[in-house]
Amino acid sequence: MLKKCILDLRVLSNECPHPRYALLRLTTVKGSLPPMVAGQFAQLRIDGVSSVFLRRPVSVHFVDPVANEVWFLVQLVGAGTKWLGSLRPGDVLNAVLPLGKGFSMPDRKDEKILLVGGGVGVAPLLFLGQSLRDYGVTPTFLLGARTKADLLQLPFFERLGPLYLTTEDGSAGEKGFVTQHSILREQSFDSVRCCGPRPMMMAVACYAKGRNIDCEVSLENLMACGLGACLCCVEDTQQGNVCVCKEGPVFNINELKWQI
Ligand code: FES
Repeated sequence: MLKKCILDLRVLSNECPHPRYALLRLTTVKGSLPPMVAGQFAQLRIDGVSSVFLRRPVSVHFVDPVANEVWFLVQLVGAGTKWLGSLRPGDVLNAVLPLGKGFSMPDRKDEKILLVGGGVGVAPLLFLGQSLRDYGVTPTFLLGARTKADLLQLPFFERLGPLYLTTEDGSAGEKGFVTQHSILREQSFDSVRCCGPRPMMMAVACYAKGRNIDCEVSLENLMACGLGACLCCVEDTQQGNVCVCKEGPVFNINELKWQI
């Protein structure tokens, strides 16, 4: 298990790729970033809002170990995340990381891997795509959103592998949901990794199960402590109730009790 660290991170930039998202690029104030696995997350301390006591869990979007940078793609949904969106270059953010268990690497370098993401669920897939490339595997991305404007970070994904898109209104890629995309009929894959809204992940799990291929999903259960202490993120699995923040957030679908 990778060692957890409590670190002060300095903001290098904070951009707004979408009115509801912030892209935070950070580096350490002192020393180097710890090793991290794609799919793991950080608990970010919210210092500027008196009504927010708990850290915010945010998945690791990208890591550049050479530049000593970690990126977070933050959905601006409440006072805490809006404070994260207001940070400026030079500001310091306290983080606990890396937390949880991430995605697995394939056994073989010739595995054909599909990475499926929806909404802000695309965030960990950039780091995963880079990790797979570093390992010697080129992944295929299938990303979905409501509209073209809601598709995030596309130029970064394009650099890592073939990219297929769906939008609900048809403004980019194929119209519909990711599970309706024609590549799922026209191409075959050895395994799938997926992150996004639960109904989407269940549909992807159903696709994988129907073809008897391996599938991992990253659960987005509500979290508070992020350390396995408060039990607010519990998921019923084949091993009984487990804390998603500690035993996940990434699970093989065979570990879950989803009716698929
Ligand atoms: Fe507290 Fe998981 S968030 S136990």
